[in-house]
Amino acid sequence: MSEVQRVAGPPQGADAPTRREWGSAPPEAHEVASVGALLSAKNLTKRFGGLAAVNDVSLELLRNHIHAVIGPNGAGKSTLTNLLSGDLPPTSGSVRLGGQDVTGWNPEKISRQGLGRSYQKTNIFLPFTVWENVRLAAQSRQPHAARWLSRATDFAALNERAARAIALAGLENRKDAIAGTISHGEQRQLEIAMTLATEPQVLLLDEPLAGMGVAEAERMVALLLSLKKDHGILLVEHDMDAVFTLADRLTVMVDGKVIASGTPADIRADAGVQAAYLGEES
Ligand SMILES: Nc1ncnc2c1ncn2[C@@H]1O[C@H](COP(=O)(O)OP(=O)(O)O)[C@@H](O)[C@H]1O
Ligand SMILES: [Mg+2]
Repeated sequence: MSEVQRVAGPPQGADAPTRREWGSAPPEAHEVASVGALLSAKNLTKRFGGLAAVNDVSLELLRNHIHAVIGPNGAGKSTLTNLLSGDLPPTSGSVRLGGQDVTGWNPEKISRQGLGRSYQKTNIFLPFTVWENVRLAAQSRQPHAARWLSRATDFAALNERAARAIALAGLENRKDAIAGTISHGEQRQLEIAMTLATEPQVLLLDEPLAGMGVAEAERMVALLLSLKKDHGILLVEHDMDAVFTLADRLTVMVDGKVIASGTPADIRADAGVQAAYLGEES
């Protein structure tokens, strides 16, 4: 087992929100100035009976970074994403999002705190148009602040948010298409648009390239790179070409544990990673 360098983190307490949405009170001046982790997991463990599916995992996701989590099937990647999104409570350890300890929060509340998670295609209403799906997603996760807006303002704001998400996801020309009739790749773009409609700071994506052809995968890679400008992205992905094209940082998991973390160059050079995982690919 080898340990490449740990992801460099900010000093404790410096991982503060930099946007108003993060926190009910306006952030302090010193918090705005800091560039801390958007999302961090500290010593996260999830046990299912005797099995530690996630075993003492720590990681940090920075703004404008793509942090990939890789590892063989059963490594605990999806369980980790479920812990980060609040879909599963951890057995121990903690999760911080935008300077808040969100450990034990439910998925709705974590979403409102700024985490956007794409679920599988089952979340799409296939008989509805692309626009209708994204508009519904915008509405489903309204921040608390929207409660105080007038209905008309609210309506316009939601429409704007949906339009922005569709444009960001590159689906403007498919806005009026029935979701069930668009290609598989476009449906995955739609999932991302639905996630973006909640205006997250952090995107949590579990295998966004799954089942895609080469051209579709290339389009998704370009989309994820463009989204890095305004988000931190935690990416679980099996497509190693895509991962090494996209990732600024990687965490490698095997049997629930982190066996290495670092830059793509660090990970490529790591003998333990090659033996445990990357060697399987060739
Ligand atoms: N709800 C669950 N109950 C029991 N075991 C689970 C549950 N979810 C996942 N596991 C187990 O935890 C391990 C990690 O699974 P998972 O997180 O899906 O891995 P990955 O996404 O890396 O393939 C596997 O051994 C899996 O069988
Ligand atoms: Mg998985």
